[in-house]
Amino acid sequence: MTATTHRPHAAENEQSASQPTPGSERPGRFIVLEGIDGAGTTSQTERLLAWLGSCGRRGHKTAEPSGGPIGRLIRSFLSAAATPLEPRAMALLFAADRRDHLQREIEPLLAQGVTVLCDRYVLSSLAYQTVAGVPHQVVAQANADLRRPDLTLFFSLPVSVAAQRRAVRGSAVEIYDADSVQQRVAAAYEREALALQAAGEPIVFIDAGRTRDEVEAALRLAITPLLT
Ligand SMILES: Nc1ncnc2c1ncn2[C@@H]1O[C@H](COP(=O)(O)OP(=O)(O)O)[C@@H](O)[C@H]1O
Ligand SMILES: [Mg+2]
Repeated sequence: MTATTHRPHAAENEQSASQPTPGSERPGRFIVLEGIDGAGTTSQTERLLAWLGSCGRRGHKTAEPSGGPIGRLIRSFLSAAATPLEPRAMALLFAADRRDHLQREIEPLLAQGVTVLCDRYVLSSLAYQTVAGVPHQVVAQANADLRRPDLTLFFSLPVSVAAQRRAVRGSAVEIYDADSVQQRVAAAYEREALALQAAGEPIVFIDAGRTRDEVEAALRLAITPLLT
């Protein structure tokens, strides 16, 4: 999970179509991108936002931890240099940030017909916080009544490929970065993603080990049915 120091304000992230799109008064779609660090979710979120704009769709990109007060607090604890927070407290902070993020930013945009792309959501908590030792049920309970995504795009790729990409990117070291932790996060992610699918939640598995263009094409294909 990458702690980005700069989170642009909502207005900077938004792309509005110059002409109102027929049917744009319908609630927007809530689309979540998930995957281990280095999978490509952040760069593909940007690509998809640009694509939505080129199709005349109003889109907005956002990420967890949010740019709000709880998100900033979480990022201060994600740094490998920080004194770690007790794992359940961290799980509750992520759930609290998610609730605030929905209420403050995501739901008002969806109500205006904007498609919201969110880089990480509940599945990230289920993967990372269970690996940190919090029981699945505790994480699930804390997130139980939150809005469900209209679609989750789950990026799967070998942990070694993601590690190479992170090395090239060269971002700040975080508490979840060690290879052994990434292996466990990847396994937990896979397990939790399959459980969501079995529970009937809309989730599409994307082979994220391919080129950026190939991954983007697969993502567009998965999203297109939601936009009609
Ligand atoms: N399909 C891809 N092939 C090669 N490199 C990629 C691909 N997708 C992303 N990258 C690169 O890998 C690094 C991690 O991508 P990023 O979007 O930050 O991943 P995430 O947000 O999932 O951690 C970045 O340097 C990015 O440019
Ligand atoms: Mg990222």
